[in-house]
Amino acid sequence: MPNLLIRKPMQLLMTEAGETGIHTLKRVLGPWQLTALGIGAIIGAGIFVLTGEAAFNNAGPAVVLSFVASAIACAFAGLCYAEFASLIPIAGSAYTYGYATLGELFAWIIGWDLILEYALGASTVSVGWAGHFVPLLKHFGIYIPDSVSTSTFVLQNGHFVNTGAFNLVSFGVLLLISAVLAKGIKESATLNSIVVVLKLGIVLLFIGCGIWYIKPENWHPFIPPEESLGRYGWFGVLRGGALVFFAYIGFDAVSTAAQECKNPKRDLPIGILGSLAICTVLYILVSGILTGLVSYKLLGVPAPIVVGIEATPFRWLAWVVELGAVLGLGSVMLVMLLGQSRVFYSMSRDGLLPEVFSRIHPKYRTPYVITMLTGVVVAIIAGLLPIRVLGELVNIGTLLAFAIVSASVIVLRIRRPDLPRPFKTPGYPFVPVMGVLTSLALIGFLPQDTWWRLVVWLVIGLLIYGLYGIRHSKVQKAGP
Ligand code: ALA
Repeated sequence: MPNLLIRKPMQLLMTEAGETGIHTLKRVLGPWQLTALGIGAIIGAGIFVLTGEAAFNNAGPAVVLSFVASAIACAFAGLCYAEFASLIPIAGSAYTYGYATLGELFAWIIGWDLILEYALGASTVSVGWAGHFVPLLKHFGIYIPDSVSTSTFVLQNGHFVNTGAFNLVSFGVLLLISAVLAKGIKESATLNSIVVVLKLGIVLLFIGCGIWYIKPENWHPFIPPEESLGRYGWFGVLRGGALVFFAYIGFDAVSTAAQECKNPKRDLPIGILGSLAICTVLYILVSGILTGLVSYKLLGVPAPIVVGIEATPFRWLAWVVELGAVLGLGSVMLVMLLGQSRVFYSMSRDGLLPEVFSRIHPKYRTPYVITMLTGVVVAIIAGLLPIRVLGELVNIGTLLAFAIVSASVIVLRIRRPDLPRPFKTPGYPFVPVMGVLTSLALIGFLPQDTWWRLVVWLVIGLLIYGLYGIRHSKVQKAGP
């Protein structure tokens, strides 16, 4: 009889970390580099696209408060991630943390759930990417019809309506990035830094140029009166928070660099909280200025920042933003697809997924099979679904992972108080408990349809685990 809660021995994890050479990584990163890493992973479709969507549909000008609400949840969870990252620095992130603490079933659930974060995250960003790429091409006289640059399904009054279109632009860019990843990309720190500077530059330019042209009347009413549950009013502000949460996803990437920090104890919290704090301030400024430049009623478009710019005399900035978004969102998709292949790789090495998922290309030395397979699937999904539906699914998956990771901090402190923790979550147990509660609260503010989609997703996952994973698990075979 298999033991569903069998745990992967800590010793084995440490040995595997050694095998992959992770322990040999150089401790080169300081607080500034870590913060830059975080900002690079964070700024993307959330601020460039979903700000407009949340203001238009849920919060009105109070979308700034939505950003504050989700930043709070992220800060708690971020501190919990940092403890695990310094303790178990190995590919697989939250999936691995869960395997070591809560047992195989939970690890599977987290791994399955992370697919929503990474794979669907890439789909979501690609839709935002298309929304900037298409208008950018227009400046060069190239017109791409809606039938190949918008999703097949759109939501109208809670129902999917078939538009007959297919977002070939998102589909294409995801296949292209997957091919680059399969061939092997040396993550170039220099390239990443350039993209980070570019993204930050655009955001700052928008703030610097836009702030002078705010029309305060656009901020009235600040919280539009509730029209229905989740559409304006306080509930709408928090539902908006659960949507713009997407804009913060990525700061957990900082925690994965635990073994490369010069001084993880001091620098990890600086990197995580620093990038989070900087992005929070930027997001509040951008959303505040945007809703001040134009009425929130005009922001339900694929490129809302561009709409804001067009209300200023700096119209030339529009194409700079489009170009910056195209490059900046490109790097976010790359990181997400890379993260997904690492999670699949870890699950496959543990025997929970078929061995072919961790097959490495003899020449390029990348997990090419799973990289391309993931690419094709996420590309098809990106062609079919609108950004809001995708973003909400990503958020619910990520929030569930945040809740489980926060809970795992408590479990492991009780079970293994002896383990060396280079970074300890401060304010224990308050911070991890709040990590669980705030993540669950944000899930509560997502639409019920999204909960059901998560349930269906988890049921499919559990079936696969029951039919395949449990029988092939290496930890099960090795026994307790
Ligand atoms: N935070 C990332 C974005 O907004 C995922 O694109």
